Amino acid sequence: MKVLAFGASNSKNSINQKLAHYAARQVKDGEVLLLDINDFEMPIYSEDREKESGVHELAHKFYNEIGDADVIVVSFAEYNGTYTSAYKNLFDWASRVDMKVFQNKPVLMLSTSPGENGAQTVLDAAKTAAPYFAANVIGAISLPSFYDNFDGENSIVTHSEFNQSLTDALSAI
Ligand SMILES: Cc1cc2nc3c(=O)[nH]c(=O)nc-3n(C[C@H](O)[C@H](O)[C@H](O)COP(=O)(O)O)c2cc1C
Repeated sequence: MKVLAFGASNSKNSINQKLAHYAARQVKDGEVLLLDINDFEMPIYSEDREKESGVHELAHKFYNEIGDADVIVVSFAEYNGTYTSAYKNLFDWASRVDMKVFQNKPVLMLSTSPGENGAQTVLDAAKTAAPYFAANVIGAISLPSFYDNFDGENSIVTHSEFNQSLTDALSAI
């Protein structure tokens, strides 16, 4: 079972990347593949650019990485109540390969932030939009107050409610 995990953030020390990696490691018999969206940085999407040069090759590469996986684990960072520009740009490009970006794969959606809300707003937006992009959402779980609930030394979540929700979501695979 190939588990593709990434944080929807371009920060080098992304807490969402850490959370996605942690969750992916909990998949039973999973082979975890970690993706860094910095490896998919492209010019800002525009219809004019697409008309001039076609869909960027990195968009195809990202789309194919999803296609090769059995399960996707993505954790959304929240900037001003929505996606980071880095993820939104990648997603816009990928949606031009095919709007069904998630290709009917099981997708575990997560989010976290240093605040109590745990980036719930962007998670809700991603979950609501999921059917348009052929994401089979098996769970949408937010971890509040990341630095209080993540043991950085051992790279584990210590929030029992989150861990229970994670176990429940992964049992659907
Ligand atoms: C431009 C900007 C906007 C932000 N807006 C929000 C926000 O709306 N909600 C929130 O919970 N945190 C917000 N934050 C704080 C982020 O949650 C925090 O930087 C977090 O570490 C981002 O996740 P990452 O480490 O995975 O990149 C914002 C941070 C920046 C730089």
